[in-house]
Amino acid sequence: MHELVRSVRRDIHKMRAFVRFRLVEEPSGQSRYVAWFEPAHHILRANASFFINRFNTMNWSILTPRGSLHWDCETLLEGPPARREDGPIGDPTEQLWQQYYSSIFNPARLKIGAMLKEMPRRYWRNLPEAQLIPGLIAGAQSREAAMVDRGKDRFTGERPASLAVLAKEVAECRRCPIGCNGTRAVTGEGRADAAVMIIGEQPGDTEEATGRPFVGPAGELLRQHLTEAGFDIGKAWVTNAVKHFKFEQRGKRRLHQSPTAKEIDICRWWIESERALIRPRLVLALGASAARSLFGRTVNIQEIRSKPQQLADGSTAIVTAHPSYLLRLDGQAREIEVARFQSDLAYFADCANALAGNEIAS
Ligand code: URA
Repeated sequence: MHELVRSVRRDIHKMRAFVRFRLVEEPSGQSRYVAWFEPAHHILRANASFFINRFNTMNWSILTPRGSLHWDCETLLEGPPARREDGPIGDPTEQLWQQYYSSIFNPARLKIGAMLKEMPRRYWRNLPEAQLIPGLIAGAQSREAAMVDRGKDRFTGERPASLAVLAKEVAECRRCPIGCNGTRAVTGEGRADAAVMIIGEQPGDTEEATGRPFVGPAGELLRQHLTEAGFDIGKAWVTNAVKHFKFEQRGKRRLHQSPTAKEIDICRWWIESERALIRPRLVLALGASAARSLFGRTVNIQEIRSKPQQLADGSTAIVTAHPSYLLRLDGQAREIEVARFQSDLAYFADCANALAGNEIAS
């Protein structure tokens, strides 16, 4: 029974989403919007008030094999079952729908399983835009590659001359699939003359929503530990290796996904530009993605953590774990890692605070 209830509810919802009206001219000269729909259950009556409210000032008919509804802006009539041939076939706006659908189709975000869940195949035959889906899927890979290529061209130019220009250009960056995912770019924040830079992996859900780095749960933990270590984060430039939020949509939730090495490497253009503008003398890299971004190769964090690393521009890097790693642990494992994190941050804080005296502890 529960299954049946769910299936009927789903069908009601799908009918609201997938009914497509076509404009027809009635013998009286009046226009009427007519739709052909094939529900899986007897849901026509259950949906009547939704369509009356939504399309109150239009004459419309919804024809189905189980019955039909006719609205004339005042009265709703129920009619007998109809056949597909009773409905109109196309109308002049059909092409517009298709154009709209292909232009909002983002090949970099193609998830066939999720799409089929939202738009099951049984509804396709009555959706004008669904005819395009096989072609769009078939061409997705090459369109995505072309998008990435187009982005590449833009990176051969000069580095941004200021942080404001950098932020503007990052916002428009479509050089990798994460940049193409339609989220807000999050660039660094802090003091433009900071001697210290802190680099995370990528903005998370809260960061994307607010446009600021490290303001979600991992950021809170980082700020707390930095304060305890005696370093004021307000003195640093805080940023990320990757500037857009990579996630997987699960219902209403956006679950973090780690960027690939290639995505981190593509985004290096921005972090290097940021470093060239801020010119920090000490950099704290949090986690493997930040470390890869900094060194241009994968590094073993356990091997190099707490050991200062010299960078090509003469500055010094300290690498430690990412705070969200601590958030994923519990029990004794967490206690151990928190202690190591605290010790790394204490060392970093000493170095950062010593910078005022122009030296880095070795
Ligand atoms: N994790 C990061 O690496 N950066 C943020 O800005 C937030 C969470």
